[in-house]
Amino acid sequence: MELLIKTFHGLESVLAKELEELGATNIRSLKRAVACEGDKEVLYKANLHLRTALRILVPISTFTAKTEDELYEAIHKFNWSEYMTEKTTFAIDAVAFSELFKHSKYLALKTKDAIVDQFREKTGIRPSVNTDNPDVLINVHVARDSFTISLDSSGESLHRRGYRQPGHQAPLNEVLAAGMLKIAEWNKDIPLFDPMCGTGTILMEAAMIACNIPAGFKRKKFGFMSWADYDKFLWGKIYKDAEEKINYPRTRIVGSDIDLKAIDMAKTSSLDFKLNRQISIMKASFEERELPFRRGMMIFNPPYGERLKKTDIFNFYKKIGSTLKQNYDGWVVWALSSNEEAIYRLGLHTEEKHTLYNGALECEFLKYHMFEGKMKEFKARRPVRRSE
Ligand SMILES: C[S@@+](CC[C@H](N)C(=O)[O-])C[C@H]1O[C@@H](n2cnc3c(N)ncnc32)[C@H](O)[C@@H]1O
Repeated sequence: MELLIKTFHGLESVLAKELEELGATNIRSLKRAVACEGDKEVLYKANLHLRTALRILVPISTFTAKTEDELYEAIHKFNWSEYMTEKTTFAIDAVAFSELFKHSKYLALKTKDAIVDQFREKTGIRPSVNTDNPDVLINVHVARDSFTISLDSSGESLHRRGYRQPGHQAPLNEVLAAGMLKIAEWNKDIPLFDPMCGTGTILMEAAMIACNIPAGFKRKKFGFMSWADYDKFLWGKIYKDAEEKINYPRTRIVGSDIDLKAIDMAKTSSLDFKLNRQISIMKASFEERELPFRRGMMIFNPPYGERLKKTDIFNFYKKIGSTLKQNYDGWVVWALSSNEEAIYRLGLHTEEKHTLYNGALECEFLKYHMFEGKMKEFKARRPVRRSE
């Protein structure tokens, strides 16, 4: 079957690689998505394991429609009994990139009417809509007049790993943090330090990678579990196989932050997932703290400065740059920020640049190699690589 896996802009190639490792075939990178082919086993494994996927769709129908009536007709004549009964609760998620269909809510409404009418005509009973916890989540996607109707096999977005503590203003999305670790090619043998760890998303994702804990390991429910063809035995086997591969190696994953409340959240997350021996977190300011280890990889997202004066944020980035130059010889440093002018104030030579999105904010994810020796010699050795 065809699968369509949604992700964030900039993570398509790391997602494609993850899919390859799972055994998917015919993998194609698209815009904010990757398409591939796979059987039920690949579908279940993808939902459990993929770290850079947001949701996994299974397309069931494609057609063209130029008006709402044509949409209604196409949905109404599709055989929905293959996927649900009149007792199934359902919800519609519609996305429109079209001059002809501008209002996704209206598309969802038309689709719902056509499905409900089909069951009412056949059985006399109307299936119910349940937006909070539907048995079947149907995705409607239109680009110009081309519709793709899919079943959402994930249900709730896959970024919900189950460790997020509520209440912090600017945590990174879990999928984005995992993508950053993958772009940086971090692995458990590399000491990792996030000096502005906030709620600890980068640390948690790293520890889960290090311990082989699948991204969806703590989730109780996936969309496919309510489908008529749900294979409980196959899911049980896939889950058990994954569980047997979990181990807790010695790791050096360290975080610090000046915000005690955020640190408490990070500690609670690591305790909830029994990763408190893998992750060590302390309260400290980056400029003043000692190095956690002599060499390693730093991955962090400093404040972007929305709530600060321009001069203050420029000085802050300048200070980060000078701390790195003075103390972090030989380290590989990756920073994510949306503030291009502030990044410039780091005063470091960029070795690699990737465009990623943190919510709606366009960010740069930049790699620096803290050199030993003269800058000129270092620059000559390493040209800048751009992802796009
Ligand atoms: C954008 S948030 C990081 C969010 C984090 N990645 C997460 O997932 O929750 C930036 C963090 O930098 C911290 N911070 C700001 N100035 C700092 C400093 N001088 N030293 C250490 N941490 C600092 C803030 O307290 C905040 O938690």
